[in-house]
Amino acid sequence: MSAMSTPVPKFDITAEEIDALVAEFYARIRAHPGLGPIFARAIAQEDGPAWRAHEAKIAGFWRNAVGIDRSYDGNPMRVHVENRDIHPGMFSTWLDLFARTAHDVLPEEKATRMRALAERIGAGMRYAVTERDTVRGAPPKLL
Ligand code: HEM
Repeated sequence: MSAMSTPVPKFDITAEEIDALVAEFYARIRAHPGLGPIFARAIAQEDGPAWRAHEAKIAGFWRNAVGIDRSYDGNPMRVHVENRDIHPGMFSTWLDLFARTAHDVLPEEKATRMRALAERIGAGMRYAVTERDTVRGAPPKLL
């Protein structure tokens, strides 16, 4: 393999650890009173093959984000902006649940790094979703 196509891992998390994190995170998402219904609508009401496919896609997203491989080829920013059920205030809830899951599933150092990565990516998404929800020409929200 050429150096060009070989991603450099950012830290030593494994694909298996990502799979475990993703499985547990979406199990908790399905059970979450606020976020569960949004995912149920977009993916499937019941746990099953559609959820496994979602989890496989998300695991690929994280392998890409940490530099294990580049199999994920999607546009998460656009997906979240286009889903009109998703609003800016939900990101702190999502990120808290992700951080808690990471700390329950992974060794401390890896959990901390995954949390930091999610927060960085989530900040960009929250900004884009906020822009989408902003009414042009309306007075600025000062608080
Ligand atoms: C307010 C918080 C969030 C909510 C409610 C949410 C919800 C969703 C939903 C419902 C989907 C399924 C896509 C669809 O509508 O068909 C999705 C996809 C996805 N989400 Fe989120 N999400 C949130 C935050 C995040 C964050 C912070 C990340 C990354 C750090 C993330 C990563 C992804 C990825 C990679 C996909 C797959 C996109 C694709 O189809 O390629 N999400 N999300």
